[in-house]
Amino acid sequence: MKVTFQIQDDSKTVTALPGQSVMEVALANNISGIAAECGGGAICGTCHVKICEKWQDAVGPAEDFEEDLLDCLPDFSSASRLACQVLLTFELDGLEVNVPQAEQ
Ligand code: FES
Repeated sequence: MKVTFQIQDDSKTVTALPGQSVMEVALANNISGIAAECGGGAICGTCHVKICEKWQDAVGPAEDFEEDLLDCLPDFSSASRLACQVLLTFELDGLEVNVPQAEQ
């Protein structure tokens, strides 16, 4: 399956496996802007991504604990998720996410 990361004006489509988190896919493919400093513990916020609009229903909303952290990020929006908390399923094949921290 594929995941596309939109990074500034560029995009990178990479191969992924169901069960991986979007964060794990990003790290495995050296996606800039996803530091994932806590290793997927949902406590650092450095894996922030924004789910592209057409995928938001399929991905679903953040859990309350996740939203508490996202709320603290300066560029938080309703499309925001922690990449470490988005687990890939076959239904998410072709997922597109934006990496806002790469825009800085
Ligand atoms: S890796 Fe730290 S919050 Fe996702």
